[in-house]
Amino acid sequence: MRITVIGCGYLGATHAAAMAEFGHEVLAMEIDRAKREALAQGRVPMHEPNLADLLARNVESGQLRFTDSYAEVAAFGDLHFVCVGTPQQPESLAADVSQIEAAITGLAPHLARPALVVGKSTVPVGTAERMAGRLTALAPAGGEAMLAWNPEFLREGYAVQDTLHPDRIVVGIQDSRAEKLLRDFYQPMIDQGSPIVVTDYATAELVKVAANAFLATKISFINAMAEVCEATGADVVDLADSIGYDERIGRQFLNAGIGFGGGCLPKDIRAFVHRAGELGVEDAMTFLRHIDDINRRQRERVVHIAKAMVGGDLAGARIGVWGAAFKPDSDDVRDSPALWISGQLHLKGADVRVYDPQANATAGHAFPTLTYADSAVEACRGADLVLHLTEWPEFRELTPTDLEGVVRRQQLFDGRNVLDVDAWRSAGWTVRALGRR
Ligand code: UDX
Repeated sequence: MRITVIGCGYLGATHAAAMAEFGHEVLAMEIDRAKREALAQGRVPMHEPNLADLLARNVESGQLRFTDSYAEVAAFGDLHFVCVGTPQQPESLAADVSQIEAAITGLAPHLARPALVVGKSTVPVGTAERMAGRLTALAPAGGEAMLAWNPEFLREGYAVQDTLHPDRIVVGIQDSRAEKLLRDFYQPMIDQGSPIVVTDYATAELVKVAANAFLATKISFINAMAEVCEATGADVVDLADSIGYDERIGRQFLNAGIGFGGGCLPKDIRAFVHRAGELGVEDAMTFLRHIDDINRRQRERVVHIAKAMVGGDLAGARIGVWGAAFKPDSDDVRDSPALWISGQLHLKGADVRVYDPQANATAGHAFPTLTYADSAVEACRGADLVLHLTEWPEFRELTPTDLEGVVRRQQLFDGRNVLDVDAWRSAGWTVRALGRR
């Protein structure tokens, strides 16, 4: 099919390249010139494993092209995927859907023949219905310009894999013709075994925020347990392993640590709480405020622990930090707990040196006054304390020998509960972690 993708962030760039890989002809629209030009040259402007190859291959073959014109998009194909961002509003918990509105308003006047616009972005429930009305009103094709909502569940770091092999395809529709088109489009994935759920707009929109709310709840649940473990001398990793063996619970997303961050989970649960308030069901979603509070508290606890470990005064203390990205295999520092903690320690007077295998540049952009080191060992030179905050595999491979003669004091805090605590302790290090003995 000839399809278009509007918005080329993590979601759109991956969707465009992956759909080209499936054999579709793809025209992708990006209004940011630098990003568009990089993509058109086959370069990925963020760190996302396997995306560079996929993109370069499909750009080279001509299967994937880029534009900044809605007129060209409308002329090119009849299936248009909207993949723009819906960040948190600056002064509110609500999601900012202005990019969605702009995409529909920009595209609709060019839709003169039947077309299906497919929203993939995460939106407050009710947005699809509103956008469908706007589309019909503005498109010369009128009711022949249809809308569907088809949320995307990809994880950063696994974006290509998740897009090529989705664990489910959810489509919210109002018209059976839209269902037929999307079933045909996704047939290769359905044939591979991906289940498809066809439902209404509101359910499709809610599936996405409900999934993220559930994942956030799992993480905050185990982090709350970590606090109880600390108060009782219990071990949260043994606890998570043990409850995780129960298939009804499952072990995934029960890694206690400094909490969740990134461009999705934090803002999606806040937007959900806000939307619930607008809908008059705020009480039902109050627990999500606690989930958010527990998550923020984890970060604050690390700052307190770090302060205590350097002797009660952060001013002048030197702290080496491993990790700035919100999770490994990503250079994304949006709402990153690692960068937040580093920033707070710096603002309280510590000399903080951060190293991340991929996110030094993005972190430097977001927080230019921190010092960034070229290696994990360099970040620790003269340190009174080392903080492990993003669980990149290279940090797990570091041993006490690597830091011999490098640090001032042998003190380590594992914020992700993956380091071999016993090995570090046996080498004479003082080690602390969240919820561990
Ligand atoms: C998330 C959802 O997983 C994905 O389905 C959705 O489409 C977008 O939001 P992503 O933001 O890429 O994906 O990251 P994810 O892997 O979910 O991790 C989110 C955060 O939770 C990270 O900061 C991670 O470090 C943290 N986390 C995850 C934990 O603290 N403990 C865990 O056990 C798992």
